[in-house]
Amino acid sequence: MRPQVSINADRLLANLRTLGQIGGRPGGGVSRLALTPQDLAGRRQVLRWMEELGLEITIDALGNTVGVRKGLSELSPVMTGSHIDTVDGGGIYDGNLGVLAGIEVLATLDEHNISTKRPLAVAFFTNEEGARFAPDMMGSLVFEGSLDLETALATVGIDGTTVAQNLDAIDMRGTAPCGKPDVHAFIELHIEQGPRLEREGITIGIVEGVQGICWTEFELDGVSNHAGTTPMSLRHDPSVLVGETIVFARELTKHHPGVQLATVGSVTLKPNLVNVIPRTARFTVDLRNTDGVALDQAEQATIDFVYRQARAEGLTVRHRNLARFAPVAFASSVVDRIEAVATSHGLSNIRMPSGAGHDAQVLARCCPAGMIFVPSLGGISHNPREHTDARDIESGANVLLHALLELANA
Ligand code: GLV
Ligand code: MN
Ligand code: MN
Repeated sequence: MRPQVSINADRLLANLRTLGQIGGRPGGGVSRLALTPQDLAGRRQVLRWMEELGLEITIDALGNTVGVRKGLSELSPVMTGSHIDTVDGGGIYDGNLGVLAGIEVLATLDEHNISTKRPLAVAFFTNEEGARFAPDMMGSLVFEGSLDLETALATVGIDGTTVAQNLDAIDMRGTAPCGKPDVHAFIELHIEQGPRLEREGITIGIVEGVQGICWTEFELDGVSNHAGTTPMSLRHDPSVLVGETIVFARELTKHHPGVQLATVGSVTLKPNLVNVIPRTARFTVDLRNTDGVALDQAEQATIDFVYRQARAEGLTVRHRNLARFAPVAFASSVVDRIEAVATSHGLSNIRMPSGAGHDAQVLARCCPAGMIFVPSLGGISHNPREHTDARDIESGANVLLHALLELANA
């Protein structure tokens, strides 16, 4: 029997480190927020690797980038990929692993003169993180057609500038069409970003689906006044409601149906001074649950709470939804195949849901999709300390290689 082809782990790790240095921070980790000059430098590096492989590269009007390796037939491609934008102070693996592992798979096939019936494509999608411009998965939503291009381009980010302005500043508006992509199947390799695989001593997570996500932004207006002269009974202080909502959200997770998660991750008080009662507060609530009905109820309960308490404190309140994703189940044909590949390679594996949002959940709207997880040390991610062992990266990339090969030749 011909020995199994394997990816070159040293090359993949070296590429991860090279990309991780772009926007790299002195103490470790990386800040490559979407559409920043750092993102541009990262894109240029990845484009160079794609060009070295002779891929046919297309960039669409939101900067989503796809490199295609020809197949023996003109059938629709099997695609892999992820994102290369990061949160501010993120790790070098989140997203980047999925893109660079895809490139590594194609390099491996070239070296072994292996052709596939279908073309193989590797993609990176703009602004998966959503940390600078909401919603997250913005690029894949436009690529797939659920979010219209004009709405995405007009989105104002945390620094008050639009996606369009920043896309033009880095000159990454391409001409490839958005929406209705012709993709046969999609697989994304990603770090787990949670503690389960490491805790259970398992190498490969077979991702069955992604939990629902709901982001809400609240803006409160109160009355700014002197901290030393304003009696407590006369205050209209928006910061009080920020604190109350943080506690409310934590309490909600204790009795809500399903596994409810809640995070207040961004708070801005103005004028934000030690001796001034704030005039305004802006804060976000990130809610997640694998049960979509329970997630909707958690959202409504949070909104009701904020409006009720705002009345009591004499504040005015506005809210808007920043992101909403229903729970997603991946196609059993892809999930089963990934599981069979992992098992045939003698790798311990377990089926599990994803806690984080991923481009694969959006691609699942237009083709059968699935994901491969590898362990995250200490379950830590969105943090410079994010780490995955080299051996796990190699195992995950080899599962990706063989799952893609099977899909492209079936
Ligand atoms: C994307 O990283 C998310 O917030 O799940
Ligand atoms: Mn990611
Ligand atoms: Mn992320």
